[in-house]
Amino acid sequence: MNSTPARITKAVIPVAGLGTRFLPATKATPKEMLPVVDKPAIQYVVEEAVSAGMSDVLMVTGRNKRPLEDHFDRNYELEETLRRKGDNDKLERACAPTDLGDIHYVRQGDPLGLGHAVLCAAPHVGHEPFAVLLGDDLIDPRDPLLSRMTEIRAQYGGSVVALMEVDPGQIHLYGCAAVERTADGDTVRITDLIEKPAPGEAPSNYAVIGRYVLDPEIFDVLRGTEPGRGGEIQLTDALRELSTGTTGGPVHGVVFSGRRYDTGDRAEYLRATVRLACERKDLGPEFRSWLHAFVAADTGGRPDIAAGPGLLRPAA
Ligand code: UTP
Repeated sequence: MNSTPARITKAVIPVAGLGTRFLPATKATPKEMLPVVDKPAIQYVVEEAVSAGMSDVLMVTGRNKRPLEDHFDRNYELEETLRRKGDNDKLERACAPTDLGDIHYVRQGDPLGLGHAVLCAAPHVGHEPFAVLLGDDLIDPRDPLLSRMTEIRAQYGGSVVALMEVDPGQIHLYGCAAVERTADGDTVRITDLIEKPAPGEAPSNYAVIGRYVLDPEIFDVLRGTEPGRGGEIQLTDALRELSTGTTGGPVHGVVFSGRRYDTGDRAEYLRATVRLACERKDLGPEFRSWLHAFVAADTGGRPDIAAGPGLLRPAA
């Protein structure tokens, strides 16, 4: 049983990737700043960390950090203009990112991989467990995941990753876990991890998604982790060592079955935008009826053919 406190207050959000799948949009802007409806993806992620009690947020940034810093900083001129106009609704929206709390920044320098980005957080994190949230991976706030992961860390110690069952044909796009069952229905023990396995070499269809609760031992392992797949220092490789080695383990996986949107992928980014727009109280009703008409015109009056189940229905 682990002796360190269950409460995890530090969250690390790596946002230093090149975001090449989104070029040219990401040439001068981090992909995490792309809006999903009217809020940059990164703001959803910071809100998730804060609502799980992680008020100390460190972003690992790269060459285009200015837009991120500006987004979470005060904009006095804008705020003053809105205050003078008495436009409280817009003022509230402008201030919301700043009011989330203190956000710290560290530069990664060269984007040498996710594992290297996490290692850049070591001086800030110190010797305590911490969470990592990928800045382009959105978890629907109605399906809380991080709090469950911290519970599992308190129960078993070591590190905890979020897993999702994916179509076996898609597993080569993810880190993949070999697992053993535990007494908790939604939790497995990880016995091995492979980053983006070649077809036929995946030990399961459990994919690692962008939420981690990590033991600080990971830093020592990362310091010795050689570049792996794609020439990058892979977080998956360091976790593999924790899962199979003698220190810093065990590694457990919480199997997530809620709503998740990978906004780093263009098609999924579009789906996330449409879905969240449909569910919005202010925009949803009008947008849904436009979407119905659009899909009906596109499918000869059978929106059910193209839209898939549930997309065009109002949120429950
Ligand atoms: P991705 O694997 O999505 O890479 O990174 P990427 O470079 O951002 O995107 P593409 O594939 O070129 O389009 C997963 C997460 O890890 C961060 C990214 O910002 C993203 O949140 N990351 C990745 C870093 O912070 N540093 C790195 O060196 C690599």
